[in-house]
Amino acid sequence: MGKQPAALLEELRQKMIRLQREIERYSNTPVRFSGETKEAILTGERHRLARELHDSVSQQLFAAMMMLSALRSVADRDPAQAELSKQLDTIQKVINEAQAEMRALLLHLRPTNLEGKSLKQGIIQLLKELQTKITIEITWQLDDIKLNPAAEDNLFRIVQELLSNTLRHAKASSLEVYLKQLQDMVVLRMVDDGVGFDAKQASSNGNYGLANIKERAAAMGGTAKVVSVVGQGTSVEVRVPLSKDVAHD
Ligand SMILES: Nc1ncnc2c1ncn2[C@@H]1O[C@H](COP(=O)(O)OP(=O)(O)OP(=O)(O)O)[C@@H](O)[C@H]1O
Ligand SMILES: [Mg+2]
Repeated sequence: MGKQPAALLEELRQKMIRLQREIERYSNTPVRFSGETKEAILTGERHRLARELHDSVSQQLFAAMMMLSALRSVADRDPAQAELSKQLDTIQKVINEAQAEMRALLLHLRPTNLEGKSLKQGIIQLLKELQTKITIEITWQLDDIKLNPAAEDNLFRIVQELLSNTLRHAKASSLEVYLKQLQDMVVLRMVDDGVGFDAKQASSNGNYGLANIKERAAAMGGTAKVVSVVGQGTSVEVRVPLSKDVAHD
């Protein structure tokens, strides 16, 4: 204490100048600053969740499957246990579905950037990985398109979300994936022949996957169109104009 009011005022003034400078510094780079931090936090959190799910739930499901198959081999040998065999079948189906759901969740949670790979390479890697996990016939036609890294990551994440949907919801036997450059447009299209759904109902369910895709497309100045027919399948087409922001610089 004991300071003169003038000195206090001067101190305050200096402090305000410092704060003002700091605010200017942040507000000059607001989008990147908050964007990167948020992405970094999200990536860390994704890693942690994926690890935990993998180490706990996946292992337990695997153990349950092992115990079940031991039980089954006993029950299957005894004709008097036909009813039990049937119930074990049902349990096996439930566990299988839970495992598929887990795999999809892990796919959903995996780190999501391209890590230096081209968009085409990244997508092919995802598709091959998917083929080792479920029986589905996947065909693809992918142009080797070079966009700026942020746009490539955006499209890559869109593909991940769509694959996770196909895996979790579609029960499809085939999937087609296209990435094409048409004049000044990039077109990404994924078509499955699965169970389909009512797009109007899905958008009011509070799920964020498809909404996220639309937001990502819109952020690049593009659009995402979902067409789904119950019993026939689902097609999602994302169109992004090759504007200055999106094209490779
Ligand atoms: N390829 C698909 N085949 C069948 N149904 C689908 C397909 N894609 C989406 N759906 C349906 O649309 C709904 C909404 O999908 P969306 O991706 O928005 O959410 P979600 O996958 O349920 O949850 P998340 O928020 O984890 O993505 C799904 O719950 C599912 O019923
Ligand atoms: Mg989804």
